[in-house]
Amino acid sequence: MKLDGKTALITGAGSGLGAAISRLFAAEGARVCVTDIDAASAEKVATECRAAAPGAFAVRCDVADSSSVREAFAAMDAAFGDLDILVNNAGIIHTDPDYLTAFQSKGLAQMAELMTTGHIATHLDTLDHVTDAMFDRMLRIHLYGTFYCTREALPRMRKRGQGGRIINMASIMGSASLAGAPDYAAAKGGILAFTRAIAREAASYGVLVNAISPGFIDTPLLTPLDEQQKSLIKMQTPLGRLGTAEEIAAAALFLAGPDSTFVTGQSLSPNGGIYMSQ
Ligand SMILES: NC(=O)c1ccc[n+]([C@@H]2O[C@H](COP(=O)([O-])OP(=O)(O)OC[C@H]3O[C@@H](n4cnc5c(N)ncnc54)[C@H](O)[C@@H]3O)[C@@H](O)[C@H]2O)c1
Repeated sequence: MKLDGKTALITGAGSGLGAAISRLFAAEGARVCVTDIDAASAEKVATECRAAAPGAFAVRCDVADSSSVREAFAAMDAAFGDLDILVNNAGIIHTDPDYLTAFQSKGLAQMAELMTTGHIATHLDTLDHVTDAMFDRMLRIHLYGTFYCTREALPRMRKRGQGGRIINMASIMGSASLAGAPDYAAAKGGILAFTRAIAREAASYGVLVNAISPGFIDTPLLTPLDEQQKSLIKMQTPLGRLGTAEEIAAAALFLAGPDSTFVTGQSLSPNGGIYMSQ
């Protein structure tokens, strides 16, 4: 098993990608600390993980709150005593109905205009719908959350002196920046820059720091998208479908396990070809 004897803390692990990563890491022998702002969902995933490997447990953790992050790491210390792998995964997209409706209807209007008149007369103007509070929450959960958890994990990995792995969940939006979510793109772009900066500093301790930049993956995060939008995404994806949470978990296992010992400061992008960066 690729993670035999390892310990891992995963944020936002009560659903979607974090849950799939937790299950796979447990199946590969790791003891996992399943954290989420939703304690009940974290508990459910931890129970599933215990069926594969003993030692999994759940802790409520709001990554946007540094004191909640500190408490979660203290609970992990008490249970595991050390930490090999941190996965900064927790995230959101906007679910505000006004924001979604405005974006969806304007996107469709633009397409119709392109097909009929050949030029766009409708403008997205996404930022008009992003309030201070929305922008702040987006940055707090993704970027501050990654910072708070990394700040807790690194000293523990340094002190132990056996290296470690930090995996940050970015997105193709952090590089490709598709229309419709400038604050999400900014948060993910920040995570990519943070990943590279910390990878350089942590390398001397043997701590490898990488990102995963998924394309569109079939998880509850995409619930606000309607079927028409999902069809459009599939049409733009050379592999013709959404990804699965298990396909992203496989990327996380690669970055957490023994097959990526010369990989740091990178972003691995399982995205079905929708974005080809090299
Ligand atoms: N699904 C995709 O298409 C996709 C694509 C690229 C990147 N991502 C990223 O992957 C990560 C996981 O997304 P997912 O698709 O599994 O979504 P999801 O909605 O299924 O799961 C996200 C989890 O994060 C938790 N969460 C939300 N706010 C939190 C907070 N403040 N503190 C702790 N936990 C919190 C939620 O409770 C939920 O369990 C996110 O960072 C997302 O941006 C997803």
